[in-house]
Amino acid sequence: MAKLPGNAGVSVLGDKSLEFYRDPVGFCRQRVEKHRSRVFQCRLLNRPTAFICSVQGMRELLSEKSSLFLKDPTDLMTNMYGDTVVTANGEEACLLRLSLTSLFAGSCLESSSDYITSVCERCLKDLSLSGQPACVYSSFKRLGTELVLGLFLNVQADEQPELYQEIVQLCTQHWHGLISAPVNVKVPLWSSGFSTALDARDKLMDIIKDKLENDTQGFVGRLGSLPLPDSNSASQHLLLFISALIPKALASLLTSFTLALSGNEQEKTRRRAMEDPDYLHRVLLEVQRLWPPFIGGRRIADQDATLAGLHVPKGYGAIYISHSVHRDPEVFQQPDSFLPERWSGRNAGQEHFLCSFGSGPRSCIGIKLTNFFLKEACMYLLKHYNWSLDPPSQDLEYKWLPVSRPANPPTISFTRLEQTRSDTSDNG
Ligand code: HEM
Repeated sequence: MAKLPGNAGVSVLGDKSLEFYRDPVGFCRQRVEKHRSRVFQCRLLNRPTAFICSVQGMRELLSEKSSLFLKDPTDLMTNMYGDTVVTANGEEACLLRLSLTSLFAGSCLESSSDYITSVCERCLKDLSLSGQPACVYSSFKRLGTELVLGLFLNVQADEQPELYQEIVQLCTQHWHGLISAPVNVKVPLWSSGFSTALDARDKLMDIIKDKLENDTQGFVGRLGSLPLPDSNSASQHLLLFISALIPKALASLLTSFTLALSGNEQEKTRRRAMEDPDYLHRVLLEVQRLWPPFIGGRRIADQDATLAGLHVPKGYGAIYISHSVHRDPEVFQQPDSFLPERWSGRNAGQEHFLCSFGSGPRSCIGIKLTNFFLKEACMYLLKHYNWSLDPPSQDLEYKWLPVSRPANPPTISFTRLEQTRSDTSDNG
């Protein structure tokens, strides 16, 4: 059996985590070229790790051989959110998914649709009002935050502004702990980001528990009555669902969508996407292919295995890199070009070769909700605005961690479309 190309290095000194976190895309590109293989090894988080940059490797890791690769229960996610489905394994994970998935499908999803439509309108209707270019990532993050707090916690910005603001602030502090070193140090007049984050988590948990006890409506009410393994499970999951992670991922995709379709030269594409929902679907697939919000996900080999024909010893980490998987030239011709048409041509029916939302039995449980929301938000923009970069020349170089977006926040000018165009399509 062939060995993984590359070198896992010696403990601690051979660790490449810092280099990876500084520039994950460059890190993988260099090694794929050097080893002439889209699957290779390096030491990450001080563990020999297989890096998966091919569609075939990703499919094996997340679907066909998913039972051989486990979630890491010591992941930072557990530190920040407590025990949730994200880091659970085996039967526990299956049961949790079974319960939670019901909240994001069928009648539950349908009952969210009016709120989603109204929050898109409320947050997007004034994009052109100031006459100044909008910092789109921040605007979309506000939209994503209003969405999750209203939908999952019944707290709406316009109805309970003080509570809303308090939660937003706590979520931000909590988030900064996720991305700071996990050192719980607290001395008078100074506390590390991580310890501030843990304080924020405790305050958020108090608010969440109060909601779960007293609110029988909507998502909170349904979550409170689900059969879950222990009394903290509902609150820990709610903490995860309202965390800054999801609004940031939504803002990442909406930002990439507006950038891909900005300017006069994309006028036709915008019009076609507005008139044809199937085409909008293909545009959104292409947006998530080129600019997946999260860099990927990590597993640990529970036994000796192979990925793409290469030996992965028991105890090795395995990380799929969505940016690189989505540019695998074996599957995606002209991998760096934005070509929505590929999804009705050569790549038709190959949505499962994407991994922006994971794949297989541990894929994202919020994907239907996310897709519904994205379509509503994008359709609102398409029906009501023309938009272009302002100033026209900006540095749009992406950073990929913690969530993908241009490193310098892009600014866009929105111009309201003629009333007639939106009227026609509203009626049509
Ligand atoms: C743009 C929005 C989103 C993106 C890009 C996204 C992405 C992902 C990805 C990549 C995974 C798989 C991680 C892995 O393989 O280790 C995942 C899992 C998950 N997502 Fe999402 N997600 C989004 C929205 C949501 C929403 C709205 C929810 C629910 C409120 C949600 C809940 C979850 C949960 C609970 C899991 C863990 C599933 C498991 O481990 O079995 N996500 N998501």
